[in-house]
Amino acid sequence: MGLRTELGIGVIVGGGNGIGAACCRVMHRQGWRVVVVDRDLPAAMAVADEVGGHAFEVDVRDETAITRLAERIEQDVGRPEGLVVSSGTFQDNIPIGETPAETLDRVLDVNFRGTHHLNRIFGLRMAALGRGSIVNLSSVTGQVSTPLNIYGPSKAAIINLTKSLAGEWGRSGVRVNSVSPGITLVPRVVERRRRSTRYTSDIDAHMALGRCVEPPEVAEAVEFLLSPRASAITGTDLVVDCGWMVASLWHSYGGVRPQLTS
Ligand SMILES: NC(=O)c1ccc[n+]([C@@H]2O[C@H](COP(=O)([O-])OP(=O)(O)OC[C@H]3O[C@@H](n4cnc5c(N)ncnc54)[C@H](O)[C@@H]3O)[C@@H](O)[C@H]2O)c1
Repeated sequence: MGLRTELGIGVIVGGGNGIGAACCRVMHRQGWRVVVVDRDLPAAMAVADEVGGHAFEVDVRDETAITRLAERIEQDVGRPEGLVVSSGTFQDNIPIGETPAETLDRVLDVNFRGTHHLNRIFGLRMAALGRGSIVNLSSVTGQVSTPLNIYGPSKAAIINLTKSLAGEWGRSGVRVNSVSPGITLVPRVVERRRRSTRYTSDIDAHMALGRCVEPPEVAEAVEFLLSPRASAITGTDLVVDCGWMVASLWHSYGGVRPQLTS
């Protein structure tokens, strides 16, 4: 049986479901003490039970509640050295003229302002400690043109925030990176694909690897960047998309990608 190395306390916000829950599992396996945070407390508690961690409830739109959360985690568990921001909200792909104002506020509040609050509040505490590592979940939709005219820009802002904070906090021993998944088969996405072919009609055909991403594949990349194995990496964005960014334009050229094995 291999020995696990103790890596410190890792807080995963949005850890109750999907990619965040996968991060909790991978981080536990690698030797982090896991703190699961989510707006959905029962989901956070279920994941915490599974990985022998702690669960806390927070809505990332509430700055005061995040400050209280950071204090409570420090008191009850200890000072975190890792933060993963995987909380996120989504939008339908509808033209900008038909997009409700509510969508603009909701998506920016959760995805950008929430990530900003979490980075600032936890990152400054890490900087005071002289060490720490943060990974923010962005998306390939933040890097290319898609019909997601609010979600995509909110994810582009996360990449830029990540680079900005990496520059500011490097001398304080805090690294900040982001991971940009392509379409990842979390239960929410699997259900949506089942209900609507319009959402992702022939998406698998546009992936270089011919399939979508599995949640643990994103979690492995997140844990790598969070851990001391990535000690020289800060301000970077790691794309985990089964090759969607490189292959999705091939159909414009009538590109055929043969499967060479039988
Ligand atoms: N699944 C994908 O295909 C995909 C692709 C690219 C990027 N991402 C990004 O990865 C992250 C995780 O996505 P996912 O697919 O696992 O989503 P998910 O819906 O499965 O999980 C998101 C979690 O965030 C929590 N959350 C939502 N709003 C919150 C709030 N206001 N306060 C606290 N918690 C809140 C939810 O309760 C949920 O547990 C998101 O940032 C998403 O934008 C996902």
